[in-house]
Amino acid sequence: MKVAVIGTGYVGLVAGACFADAGNSVACVDRDHKKIDTLRMGKVPFYEPGLEELVRRGVAEGRLSFTPDTAAAVRDAEVVFLAVGTPSGPDGAPDLTALKAASVEVGQAMNGYKLIVNKSTVPIGMHAQVAGWMREHARHEFDVVSNPEFLKEGAAVQDFLKPDRVVIGTDKDQAFRKMKDLYAPFVRQGNPILRMDPVSAEITKYACNAFLAARISFMNELSLLCERVGADVETVRMGMSTDLRIGKHFLYAGVGYGGSCFPKDIEALLHTARSLEVPMEIVQSVQRANLRQRKHFVERVFAALGSDLLGKTLAVWGLAFKPNTDDMREAPSVDILRDLHAAGARIQAFDPAAGATAAATLGGVVALIAARRDEVLEGADALLILTEWNDFRHPDWELIRRKLKRPLVFDGRNVYSPTEMRERGFEYHSVGRPSV
Ligand SMILES: NC(=O)c1ccc[n+]([C@@H]2O[C@H](COP(=O)([O-])OP(=O)(O)OC[C@H]3O[C@@H](n4cnc5c(N)ncnc54)[C@H](O)[C@@H]3O)[C@@H](O)[C@H]2O)c1
Repeated sequence: MKVAVIGTGYVGLVAGACFADAGNSVACVDRDHKKIDTLRMGKVPFYEPGLEELVRRGVAEGRLSFTPDTAAAVRDAEVVFLAVGTPSGPDGAPDLTALKAASVEVGQAMNGYKLIVNKSTVPIGMHAQVAGWMREHARHEFDVVSNPEFLKEGAAVQDFLKPDRVVIGTDKDQAFRKMKDLYAPFVRQGNPILRMDPVSAEITKYACNAFLAARISFMNELSLLCERVGADVETVRMGMSTDLRIGKHFLYAGVGYGGSCFPKDIEALLHTARSLEVPMEIVQSVQRANLRQRKHFVERVFAALGSDLLGKTLAVWGLAFKPNTDDMREAPSVDILRDLHAAGARIQAFDPAAGATAAATLGGVVALIAARRDEVLEGADALLILTEWNDFRHPDWELIRRKLKRPLVFDGRNVYSPTEMRERGFEYHSVGRPSV
């Protein structure tokens, strides 16, 4: 099939590369010319395991191309995916400027029937709005299908190639059949392609993210109780996750969720609920609990080092919102490090992938973004773990002790065992577990 993908970010590029890998001819479009130039050189402009290899293969085999020219890509395609960003606007509602611009450009470029597939996460009812924007400019027939994306950054390629399910929101049989054909190579093991109406598809995306975020916030709330009574949230988690009704995913206490999806999608869902006067108290609490968790971590640093951190240096391992990505959007590290910097701390940080993106986000807050993990330890008063990269799991504790002024570790991701940390002679504070 001939496919165009408008918006070559985390979602658009992964989708484009995977569709090309399945034998389709795919043109990925982006209005960011620098991004297109980088991709044409065979480089992926962000960190995502396995993606560069897939992109190179697609390009080498002539099935994947990159262009800033929306009109040309649309004219050539039978299926057009919209995968532009829908970030939070000032009032919490998603900013739909990019979606509107892309819809208008696609509408203007149509030279015959097109199947339009909205993959961006959009407010409820947006499929009709997208169709409306296009209709004002299009002189040909088209259908708009809602096809929310559920991939996880850090495992995006695998998630796309082997999705738990594919959700397709359409009331048109022909559109559904074409979508089913397109996705067939990815569901050969029998994972379902779920057909539903477009509004239900749009809600499904928000519902999944809000529910997963709720699991995290629930564990974070429990961690506060565990800390107060000297219990261990990790053993509580095991006790819960072995219950098949609960399951084991997204139950880790930490410094809270972040990223480009959960915070903004929850904000958008709450905005919609407010405008429709539908109470969503659980979702509201999920958001509040998440923000409180970041503050709580900062307060624990203050409790050990004092709230005046002038003259103190903090070494930080991990900046990205989660491991295996360089995405800094809404990373908990940003709020936490801003607060610690405001209290006077000098911050020296390292992240295996997010150094460059963090420099842009945290300029003025972080004094040093190091290229090597152990470089940040020199002369620091404490070490903070803010992302659970595998690179941090087995460090050289002797070296850490020699380099730090005081053997003090704040672990926001429960990477280490408190018992082992005590044996190593460290003062160790983690989340929802007794300090040692
Ligand atoms: N990142 C994720 O993990 C994830 C997962 C599921 C769903 N989503 C949703 O998918 C959508 C895209 O997210 P993302 O993280 O890939 O965003 P992104 O910001 O990484 O990429 C969006 C791209 O669209 C381009 N763009 C904007 N307007 C354009 C236009 N008119 N024409 C051509 N290109 C244009 C931008 O330059 C950018 O490169 C969002 O709605 C997001 O909520 C994201």
